[in-house]
Amino acid sequence: MSDMTPAWNNAVLDVIERRSSTRRFAPEPVSDAQREAVLHAATRAPSAGAMMMYSIIDIREQATRDRLAELCDHQPMIAQAPWALVFVVDYCKWIDLFEHAGCFGEAFVERTGKQPRRAPGLGEFAIAAQDAVIAAQNAVIAAEAVGLGSCYIGDIVENAEEVGELLGLPEHTVPLSMLILGVPAKERPATPHPVENIVMSERYRRADEATLDAQIAEMDAMFRPHAQEAGERVVDIYTRKHTSDFMKEMGRSMERWLENW
Ligand SMILES: Cc1cc2nc3c(=O)[nH]c(=O)nc-3n(C[C@H](O)[C@H](O)[C@H](O)COP(=O)(O)O)c2cc1C
Repeated sequence: MSDMTPAWNNAVLDVIERRSSTRRFAPEPVSDAQREAVLHAATRAPSAGAMMMYSIIDIREQATRDRLAELCDHQPMIAQAPWALVFVVDYCKWIDLFEHAGCFGEAFVERTGKQPRRAPGLGEFAIAAQDAVIAAQNAVIAAEAVGLGSCYIGDIVENAEEVGELLGLPEHTVPLSMLILGVPAKERPATPHPVENIVMSERYRRADEATLDAQIAEMDAMFRPHAQEAGERVVDIYTRKHTSDFMKEMGRSMERWLENW
C-alpha cells in the first residue's frame, strides 16, 4: 500500500487490497451460493447503454478445462481449477435481436430511413470489449469477497480456430477474457504493483530519462531485488513476453477473431 493511501475503513477497498492472483487451488468445491454471487456481481457491472454486450460461458466440465489448459499456452492450473468463466465480447446477440425485431427488413428501412443491415465495426468492439472486461473484474472482486481466488488467463485469445470450435462461438464474438476460480490452496502474498509513470496530470507526459530510471529502479526493487544490473526486469519482460512465441500466436489469433467480428 502506498504512503498516500488514505486509511479508509472500507470493506470494498479491503477486498481490492488483499486480492492477488490464485494459481493453486484447494480440493474444496465451489458452492452454488459462491457461483451465484460471482455471476450476479458480473452482471451488475457498468455496461454501455446497459446493452450487456457480452456473454459469460460458465465452464464446469473437466474435459473442457483440460482442453483449454492446452490451448491457452499449456497452463496446467486451468485444468486444476474447479471453475472457469470465459467473458465473450458479444455483438451476435444484438444482431439477432435486430433481426428478430424486424430492423433489417425492407419495410423498416423504408419507413425509418435507417441504413440497411451492417456488421458491427470497431466502434462496437471498443464498447463491447469494455463491457466484457468490466464484468470480468466485477467477478474477480466478488470472488475474493466470497472466499474464492481467481486468475485471468490472457491466452484465451490464442488458437482462435480451436477455441471457437470448442466453445461454439458464432460470428461477432471474441472470447477476450478468461478467469479460473476456486478456493485458494494457500495464503497468497500480495503481488507488488509498480506505480511510477501511471497517473499523469491533465495531459499525457511521455517518460523522460529520469522517469524511465525511476520506473526501472522501482521494478527491479520489486521483482529483481538481487539484480546485478539495472533493468533486469525490463529485459526479462522483453525476452519472456514481448518477443515470445505465445505473443506471436496471440497476435495471429486476434487477427482471426477480428475477422470474425
Ligand atoms: C489481461 C490479463 C491476462 C493474464 N493472463 C495470465 C495468464 O495467462 N497466466 C497467469 O498465470 N496469469 C495471468 N494474469 C495474471 C497476472 O500475471 C497478474 O495479475 C499480475 O502478475 C499481477 O499480480 P496479482 O494479480 O497477484 O496482483 C493475467 C492478468 C491479466 C490482467
